[in-house]
Amino acid sequence: MSWLRGLRCQECGASYPADALFVCAECLGPLEAYYDEHARNAHVSHKTIAQGPRTLWRYHDFLPSQYTPRVDLSDGWTPLLHARNLGRALGLNNLYLKNDTVNPTFSFKDRVVAVAAAKALEFDLPALACASTGNLAGAVAAHAARAGLPAYVFIPADLEPAKILSAAIYGATVVAVQGDYDQANRLATEAAEEYGWGFVNINLRPYYAEGSKTLAYEVAEQLGWRAPDAVIAPVASGALYTKINRGFEELYAAQLIAGPLPKMIGAQAAGCAPIAHAFAQRTREITPVQARSIAKSLAIGNPADGSYAIDVARKSEGGIFSVPERAVAEGMALLARTEGIFGETAVGVTISVLKKLADARAFDPDEIVVAYLTGNGLKTSQALEPLAHQRIDTKPNLEFFQEQFEPKVYAVA
Ligand SMILES: Cc1ncc(COP(=O)(O)O)c(C=O)c1O
Ligand SMILES: [Zn+2]
Repeated sequence: MSWLRGLRCQECGASYPADALFVCAECLGPLEAYYDEHARNAHVSHKTIAQGPRTLWRYHDFLPSQYTPRVDLSDGWTPLLHARNLGRALGLNNLYLKNDTVNPTFSFKDRVVAVAAAKALEFDLPALACASTGNLAGAVAAHAARAGLPAYVFIPADLEPAKILSAAIYGATVVAVQGDYDQANRLATEAAEEYGWGFVNINLRPYYAEGSKTLAYEVAEQLGWRAPDAVIAPVASGALYTKINRGFEELYAAQLIAGPLPKMIGAQAAGCAPIAHAFAQRTREITPVQARSIAKSLAIGNPADGSYAIDVARKSEGGIFSVPERAVAEGMALLARTEGIFGETAVGVTISVLKKLADARAFDPDEIVVAYLTGNGLKTSQALEPLAHQRIDTKPNLEFFQEQFEPKVYAVA
């Protein structure tokens, strides 16, 4: 059963039935899901969760839709790894990596789409759709294919080719909009009104956003039911960041973890950093920017959840910070070299902000810090072209090889 009770306006508190709605008719504020928390919290326990599947559906009591095998690609329950090498480089003894690059379509977007797609089936909508900066398109296309629904994905035309391919291969209709993400999103919002499709991040957004809470639940469970001291996640619209925070708050309210709750740190790249900018200016009013960043997955110039992200940063005593564009590839390479994980540009942004804060001694060395790695690097490999790749060119001959080769000496940990 679902504990969902309806939708509520985040601005004025007006409530609505749990339909395919996303804006408040009274004040145009965004709607979000609300639950019978009292009854839910009396029911859930570490044991009820442990009895669930090894996917994000083990947390179904906290989600607004019902499990259905028709869209299940085994989303979520990704590894949490102790990062000894990167931790040593940054002076952090308890650094952990939540590796969401290994989801079915290689990004955390599978989580939000799993929840939204299940809702689209419940509402009997005729198609699945989205406006996307890349990863969402692939996640929507794959889950639609699994569900046997048509998919329509609206993307900026200049997206990375691998991201376009990763949506097209599943049979989605790719709508390449001549403009940036914010323009693609505007067109998609008009299309959502015109056709009755389930746009996961528009008319299904209140359900979709809830899927990101599972990134908090999993980390808490994998740490042995405790909250980390700090977490760091990339920020585009701000939905992921605010919902990770909500996930920890819900576990605390349900007495599944003790306090204190983590400091929430958000990461943006300088070419599109409207929320980091507002945070630095000590305001919750976001001034939209024209996005120009190599981190295309984070290139949202007019972020829907920007002000709420600022609220979370302040309340949790964290912050939202940016790094220069050149640091994006450096962060990707640092992670890959030290831990063997090839994350995408959003991951490069996250690791570089983490490094910037660690270098500034913003953490106690023994704090438990979790970095969310939200997408796979193979979809954004051209971002690495400016970095020199070391390789040995040789004839198929040992002598020739030995002339080129200098063995590397590794320190044993
Ligand atoms: C890999 C990756 N990380 C992070 C984000 C940020 O998500 P949000 O828009 O919820 O802030 C995105 C969004 O597309 C993404 O693709
Ligand atoms: Zn309202």
